[in-house]
Amino acid sequence: MLQVEGLRAGYGPLEILHGVSLEVPAGSLVALLGANGAGKTTLMRTLLGLLPARSGRILFAGQEVERASVERRVRLGLGLVPEGRELFPSLSVRENLLMGAFTRRGRAAIEADIERVLTCFPRLKERLALPAASLSGGESQMLAIGRALMSRPRLLLIDELSQGLAPAIVESVLAVLVRLNRDEGLTILLVEQNARKALKVASLAYVLQSGSIVLQGRPDDLAASPAIQHLYLGGEAKAGGPDEENLDARSLVRGGLNKEARGEE
Ligand SMILES: Nc1ncnc2c1ncn2[C@@H]1O[C@H](COP(=O)(O)OP(=O)(O)O)[C@@H](O)[C@H]1O
Ligand SMILES: [Mg+2]
Repeated sequence: MLQVEGLRAGYGPLEILHGVSLEVPAGSLVALLGANGAGKTTLMRTLLGLLPARSGRILFAGQEVERASVERRVRLGLGLVPEGRELFPSLSVRENLLMGAFTRRGRAAIEADIERVLTCFPRLKERLALPAASLSGGESQMLAIGRALMSRPRLLLIDELSQGLAPAIVESVLAVLVRLNRDEGLTILLVEQNARKALKVASLAYVLQSGSIVLQGRPDDLAASPAIQHLYLGGEAKAGGPDEENLDARSLVRGGLNKEARGEE
């Protein structure tokens, strides 16, 4: 569904993505992990076309889209739930949903899809006429996902699903996404700080570090890897100084993880 090859992008003189390659198979739920500042949001923005690719290829639904407009990519079936949600605060919940359908015509189908979103997220139903600014964090994320679903994406990019949300809300939103993935064939690329939760639902995972993919594989294998334990799952943390810890984590990723990834091929 999505193939990214050697993707480079950045801001001004700064290159952030140093040749990222990854694949999101049709029907899969893929997790993208990585520390703060690794370039996850930059990658999401470049995939959608909000940020230009400097080089490399983005193959989506059989087409090269690295130079296509955002609108064209959305029409082809790419949807983004942006980091921080980026709702229109003064517009109502319903109006926010309609904004998600900006590439579409056909009133009846759009209304039917609003109903579909409300079935997924019933909490939005009684809030339809309220401004988005009045929503809780969890409701805001539901609306952001709902708005993205309104463009009928085939691949949904989700940047930081659980940011600022209570664990119970994260679970319920994740359950909806898993259901959409399993029952409706929605392909999902999920950026998630909570590696444990992401690895539990994903069928494939990538780790981005300093703008490069340093590890990829099956979630079970990743979860069992000492480096992932150390970096993301809070296991086997050492009580050393910060420098020592960083060095340790880095060498684990460079050595251990790459070796593991190579072993898979
Ligand atoms: N608009 C911007 N201008 C300049 N640098 C940016 C901008 N946005 C992000 N960066 C830098 O790019 C790097 C990656 O950021 P980001 O993609 O947001 O990482 P992540 O989402 O993994 O936390 C960071 O060093 C960040 O400071
Ligand atoms: Mg980010």
